[in-house]
Amino acid sequence: MDGPILVIDRDAARPIGAQLVDGLRRGILRGALRPGDAVPSTRALAAELAVSRSAVVTAYEQLAGEGYLEMRQGAATRVADLARGATPSPDPAISVDPASSDTASSGTAPRSRAEEVAGPASPRIDLLPGRPATLRFDTRAWRAAWRTAAARDIPSESPPPFGVQRLREQIADHLRIARGIECDAADIVVTAGTSEALSLSSSALAVAVARPPVIAVEHPGYPSARRTLELHGASTVPVRVDADGLDVGALRRMPQPPDAAMVTPSHQYPLGGRLPVAARLELLQWAREAEAIVLEDDYDSEYRHLGPPLPALASLDDAGRAVLVGSFSKVLTPWLRLGYLVMPENHELRAAYARMRADDRCPVPGVVQDAVATLLESGAVRRHIAATRRDYAHRRALVLEALDGLPGAPLSGLDGGLHAVVRLRELAASDAVIARLAAEGVAVAPLAEYSAVPGDEEPGFVIGYAGVTDTQLAEGLARIRAALLT
Ligand SMILES: Cc1ncc(COP(=O)(O)O)c(C=O)c1O
Repeated sequence: MDGPILVIDRDAARPIGAQLVDGLRRGILRGALRPGDAVPSTRALAAELAVSRSAVVTAYEQLAGEGYLEMRQGAATRVADLARGATPSPDPAISVDPASSDTASSGTAPRSRAEEVAGPASPRIDLLPGRPATLRFDTRAWRAAWRTAAARDIPSESPPPFGVQRLREQIADHLRIARGIECDAADIVVTAGTSEALSLSSSALAVAVARPPVIAVEHPGYPSARRTLELHGASTVPVRVDADGLDVGALRRMPQPPDAAMVTPSHQYPLGGRLPVAARLELLQWAREAEAIVLEDDYDSEYRHLGPPLPALASLDDAGRAVLVGSFSKVLTPWLRLGYLVMPENHELRAAYARMRADDRCPVPGVVQDAVATLLESGAVRRHIAATRRDYAHRRALVLEALDGLPGAPLSGLDGGLHAVVRLRELAASDAVIARLAAEGVAVAPLAEYSAVPGDEEPGFVIGYAGVTDTQLAEGLARIRAALLT
């Protein structure tokens, strides 16, 4: 790389790290650095520019996250082929299979609406929601945590029924600091993701009410949660959501109150509403009166882009009715299959959870729990959340820049999280746009897949903006814009 590409101005207000990123990005965009070119080692570039090596490492990591560079373990960092739009992955072991996204097209679902509309295709730009950005995770901390977990003597017992103590302590600390929840390790149950937290809760409720429970779910809402509850013996009843989230009045008007309600109050999934504090209190009041449980799916509350975060429902609960469910799928990776729930002060429910786990045992391998406890202790997860918060805010700005204000296609759901929603007027037009995008290699999730009421599907689609690089996102958004404008 010759001098002119990178000049650091030490008197400029712009931080040196940002200048490094700007200079390298410009160099790549104007072709001074071509696809496949190796960039200097971080040590060499740091010495040449008289900047710290960590500034260069951070700049390279950011550019890899944006899709400009490809970083591979043990090999030189190279300029990515932007035209090819490949997803650079530093470690195939933690790259995420697109088929495992959280749309209705994953898991045991029948052929999805997108497939019915367009036929199966492997998308080149996968904008299905459910994939977080993993490229920027501190791979050194990740590997060190697994090495430490693997180096331990091999225990001869099963993990404790509610999970490894060290991990439970770390999760309780995280929740106290990030979500204002007064809990300690004894309140935490380690689960195999949100899905197992829900199946466990469904079984525990069945024990508590001595029959298969009835659980209210949001409409539209998270399809795999609905299916998980049903597969574990619960029957679900849909309750409409409005712009703020669950319509608590509609829940109150149900002639037969359900045993529980499953809600996403921080960021309604998928529409994006945020349940106001008054509605949260009303929901808890309903639960108290109906002697019901509220299952709070707090899936992406770490990412709030607009407006202050509201207290978790569970933090307002003084009647032992709210179970907070959280997951490492968004803040780290769904590859771990790791989540947790926080048991409220409710002896009956706690006894039911204990009874389930006494027989079923904790399904999360002890070695995984050890490694993630070490990762949390190292601070790498906290740092990753802070870094991805900035990245996602930038991605969100790209979505707004490309799609805001298009006639007949309002954007929503962008106040927090990792996805956006485009609402359309008619299902047929919506299907046509989704089919055209699929034919062009861009996968988005039809809003219709989230319906909990057959025949009441909404036109539009959901865009996940986290699991791709900036360049892939920009290309995908340009295609979406073109499809919406024709
Ligand atoms: C609404 C919602 N809740 C929870 C999760 C996390 O689920 P799990 O922990 O089972 O991967 C997801 C998926 O990423 C989601 O979309």
